[in-house]
Amino acid sequence: MQVEKVAASRLADADFMNLGFGDVFSDHMVTCKFEEGNWSEPKIGPFEPIPMSPASLALHYGQTVFEGLKAFRGTKDGRVRLFRMDKNADRLQDSCERLCIPVLDRRIFIDAITELVKLDQEWAPSNRGEALYVRPIVIATEGHLAVRPSASYMLVIFTSPVCEYFAQSRSRLYLKAEERFTRAAPGGTGYAKTASNYAVTLRPINDSVNQGYDQILWLDGQSHRFVEEAGQMNIFFRLGETVVTPELGGTILPGVTRDSVLTLLKEQGIPCLERRVLMEELVDAEAAGTLQESFGAGTASVVVPIGRINYLGNDICLPEASNDDLCPALYDQILGIQHGELEDRHQWMTTVDG
Ligand code: COI
Repeated sequence: MQVEKVAASRLADADFMNLGFGDVFSDHMVTCKFEEGNWSEPKIGPFEPIPMSPASLALHYGQTVFEGLKAFRGTKDGRVRLFRMDKNADRLQDSCERLCIPVLDRRIFIDAITELVKLDQEWAPSNRGEALYVRPIVIATEGHLAVRPSASYMLVIFTSPVCEYFAQSRSRLYLKAEERFTRAAPGGTGYAKTASNYAVTLRPINDSVNQGYDQILWLDGQSHRFVEEAGQMNIFFRLGETVVTPELGGTILPGVTRDSVLTLLKEQGIPCLERRVLMEELVDAEAAGTLQESFGAGTASVVVPIGRINYLGNDICLPEASNDDLCPALYDQILGIQHGELEDRHQWMTTVDG
């Protein structure tokens, strides 16, 4: 791969003692263009602004997709490892397909990320829970005004040393079950990682944060009675001895952490169900004392406990944290694997050598 290194690294200026989420960017980025029907060879160069026509189709009609994954520094050996890149490669292909973006070969995507993280591996933080977040984006670059797929695209991959997404907020989230606005509808783009899925959430999230909530619990777009996602995370409930999470049906993002949680729970013999979850079921379970726990799961946030959910003006309260809770145990297992402390039984990690 063609590599143009920066003349002077910005690493020494980065404040690793006070990492936030997503405001520091490392030295290099990958670029790869789609022109005249073909994706070019990816290149690595300095992280810098990208030239774009103001008429680019990405800017007005939102023909763009993105991904989010993380690389972690090993606690014991200091080596940097990427978590489940293959899942992000698959999901990027599905998102591209939904947005009429020409699909990029998975191998090219995986190799480009690996090379980039290898080059900027010094940017991977050392603290447990912190990571080098990798953000691939694909944008439609053709300048044109008709609503149609672009003839040209650009893949850009850059990285950012981050803390956990909710590291600064209170430990148990307060969610508002959204009765008015909708994130995704059947037949829409809910399962794809595309900008518009996030843009439509900004106003409702602002409103609910102003009302004292941490995040929104998204409900289905038709009846507003079935649970879909929590903020930018998938959501889990422990009902009695069973863990349930909304089934993927086209409106929910197929989260990599969601899949990892299901794998780890099943491995421990904990019954897990992917099925529709009715809000009234949670109200009844709270009353019956069977609603044991709820947590969100996502790449940026890992797993985060939920303390309360406001539904139709009343709070559904989760029990106080207990030693039997699954969320802290899952957090330790996932981070343990990511930081190379626990055996990587599922070959989820790719070590970046050199
Ligand atoms: C992630 O969890 O990686 C996401 O893409 C969500 C985003 C809000 C940071």
